[in-house]
Amino acid sequence: MKRTTALLIVPAIAVMLFSCSKKNIAVSTTVVTDTSFKQLPFPFGFAVNVSKLRTNIAYKNILLTQATSVSAETVMKIAYLHPAQNTYVWTDADYLVDFAVQNNIRVHGHTLVWHQSLPAWVTNFVGDSAAWENLLKTHIQTIVAHFKGKVTSWDVVNEAIENDGSGYRASSLWYQKLGIGFIARSFQYAHEADPNALLFYNDYGNEWGNTKRNAILNLVNDLKSKGVPINGIGLQMHTDYTQPDANIQTAISTAAATGLKVHISELDISMNPSNNQTLVFNSIIAQQQSDKFKMVAKAFNSIPKAQQYGITTWGIGDADTWITGFYSRPDWPLLFENNYQKKAAFFGVLNSVK
Ligand code: XIL
Repeated sequence: MKRTTALLIVPAIAVMLFSCSKKNIAVSTTVVTDTSFKQLPFPFGFAVNVSKLRTNIAYKNILLTQATSVSAETVMKIAYLHPAQNTYVWTDADYLVDFAVQNNIRVHGHTLVWHQSLPAWVTNFVGDSAAWENLLKTHIQTIVAHFKGKVTSWDVVNEAIENDGSGYRASSLWYQKLGIGFIARSFQYAHEADPNALLFYNDYGNEWGNTKRNAILNLVNDLKSKGVPINGIGLQMHTDYTQPDANIQTAISTAAATGLKVHISELDISMNPSNNQTLVFNSIIAQQQSDKFKMVAKAFNSIPKAQQYGITTWGIGDADTWITGFYSRPDWPLLFENNYQKKAAFFGVLNSVK
């Protein structure tokens, strides 16, 4: 990336701001340093844990100095935002959105319709198909309308394809109650509530191989060809360092071939996919991870500019990751250490576009 004079001057200002006051660090909303993802030629961000944003200054400072986009890790999921049929709890999501808007950070909404994170009022809901349709529509439209003009884009439907790519996810309550049309109609409902919002289908496993990838691509191409208001495809890309580069490149280039915007929406690169309980992070692992993150960012940067919606990592520091809990193993899949110091992979991403 070309550096402008402004970029060379601003670090000096940032340094001055940081050194002025040790106790009360003045962080301008426009801080751009020469070690900032804000320099990247595409949006870059993180899934945010709102309680950490509220309480951890180092965490918040990474967002202020590095993020041009954020997603909510949990607080926009139905169980959190819509815990009872007539109850919406906006507090945490509003906190994140207000923080982002104030600091010129884009907000990507995650996620309106998912088979997980379902509150009891939904799983226990009794009604005919019209009542279920009304539930879906009201849920989507209340939330999208609430954030209209503040949330730029939404993962409308998340993970509707089976884990192995063999078809639509049969265990999804939405699929069971509403049939496969729930996907297209969810996009339509979201579009009606905010015609300016960019609407994404989000899923994982595009880099695993043809079966899952083709199932996802067929779904989004079908939606597109039917005139459903879909603007983008989210590649979650919860991956690991052993995933061959070619698979990741194919995942990204085939997503771009749909003509939709591409969001690498939940990136993390596991360094312990074999579940070694005694593995310790070291400089060799750090370098392998850096190489993989760099490769992902390079591949992403090679698709047409207008389709580069951005890269979002699923958490900021390694202490934030869901991977260690989900797989019950030590792991270090993110770009910052537990204490939010930059890892080698941070510089891998930064250098990917130079
Ligand atoms: C995960 C969060 O990271 C966890 O904190 C939460 O308990 C469960 O969900 N795919 C998705 C994300 O789309 O919403 C998931 O996030 C990770 C997998």
